[in-house]
Amino acid sequence: MDVSTEENGGVLVVTATTETARFHALWLRDNALDDETRDARNGQRLITLSDIPGDVRIAAAEAEGGQVVCIFAPDGHVARFPVRWLMAHRYDVADQAARLDPEIETWDGSLTPVPVADMRDLERDDAALSDWLGAAVRYGFAKVTGLGTEEGGLFRVVDLFGYVRETNYGRLFEVRSEINPVNLAYTGLGLQAHTDNPYRDPVPSLQILACLENSAEGGASAVVDGFAAAMRLEAEDPDAFALLSDFPVRFDYSGTSGVRLQSRQPMIALSPDGQIQQIRFNARSIAPVVDVPFEKMEAFYAAYRKFDAIIDDPDMAVTFKLDPGEAFIVDNTRVMHARTGYSGAGTRWLQGCYADKDGLRSKHAALTNRKEPASGRA
Ligand code: FE2
Repeated sequence: MDVSTEENGGVLVVTATTETARFHALWLRDNALDDETRDARNGQRLITLSDIPGDVRIAAAEAEGGQVVCIFAPDGHVARFPVRWLMAHRYDVADQAARLDPEIETWDGSLTPVPVADMRDLERDDAALSDWLGAAVRYGFAKVTGLGTEEGGLFRVVDLFGYVRETNYGRLFEVRSEINPVNLAYTGLGLQAHTDNPYRDPVPSLQILACLENSAEGGASAVVDGFAAAMRLEAEDPDAFALLSDFPVRFDYSGTSGVRLQSRQPMIALSPDGQIQQIRFNARSIAPVVDVPFEKMEAFYAAYRKFDAIIDDPDMAVTFKLDPGEAFIVDNTRVMHARTGYSGAGTRWLQGCYADKDGLRSKHAALTNRKEPASGRA
C-alpha cells in the first residue's frame, strides 16, 4: 500500500494492489470511524458538519498494517481507516453513474430457472432464506412453493422479512371474480402487465400473491422486468426513454367510496444521476396526461406506445401458472405482473397483500453480514 497527500493536505491518495483512489480531507474527517465520530454501539454519527473546521486538511498520513492513519489539522484529530473500507467507499472513479443498480440483473422471458424456494426451507434455514431474498433483490421477483392453502397463509411470506402494508383494500385482498368489483383485478378479465397502485405515493414496493384455488381455464400469471423494458426502450429509441422519464403523468383511483388516491410521477423514474429507480405502468389507472407540453404530446404518446409494445412483447414475459399452495413476490417498483383472462368452469382464487422492500433488503443484508463495521476496528 502506498499513501500520500496532495494539494497541501487537502487530498489523500491511496494505492492498494493496482488501484489508486483519492479522498478529500473533509470527506475523510466526516466519515471517520473512531469512537468520537461514530457511536461504537450503533455506528451512528455523533457529529454534524459544523463540528468539523472549515479549513480541515490532512497534516500527516501513513500506512500502518492494513490501515491508513490520518492526523487532521488544525485540531489534531486522529482517525484510522482500514484500506479495505476505503476502497469499498471510493468515489474517485470514472463513469460513476450507471443506469442500473449493480446489485440487480435484468431479464426477459428466457430467464431459467425461475427463482423459487420451498416455504418450509425458508422458515427454518437462514441460508435458504438468504438465497431466496437475494434472488428477490436481484431479479425483482421470486416464487414460493409449499405454502399450503390456508387463508392468510401469504402473511407467512411477509413474516420472513418484514411487515404487511395495509391499504384501503385491507390487510389482504381477495383476487377472484366479483359481481360489482371495486377493481378490475377482481374479475375474469385478462390484465396487461402493470405495477400495482401507482396512484399511491409512495407505492407499496412489494406485492405478494398466493394461490388458494386455480382450476379455471386460463388465469396464468406472468411477470415482466420493467427495468429491462426501460433499458430496451432506451436502446431502441433514446428520445422516447427521455420523454417517459422527463415528464410526470398522473394516476388516479376512486373506485371505493371515500377514497380518492392521486399521484404525479413519471412512468420511468430516474435518480438525479440517471439510475433507473422505479417504473409505474398501469393502463387502468393512468389519468389524463396534462404535464406534457402541447408541442411534445404526440411524441410523448408515441413513446408511451413503444414502451407499451415492449411490455406486451411475449419475449419479455416469464409466464407460469400458480398452483394452489404457491405464491410469488414482486418488487412493485420494478417488475410488472399480468394474468391471462379466465372463465368457464372452475375457480381461481388468489389472496394478495402488500409489504415494503426496505425490510426485504435489510433482512437480506443482515443475513449476508454486509453490515458495515460501526467503527474502524474492523
Ligand atoms: Fe395487480
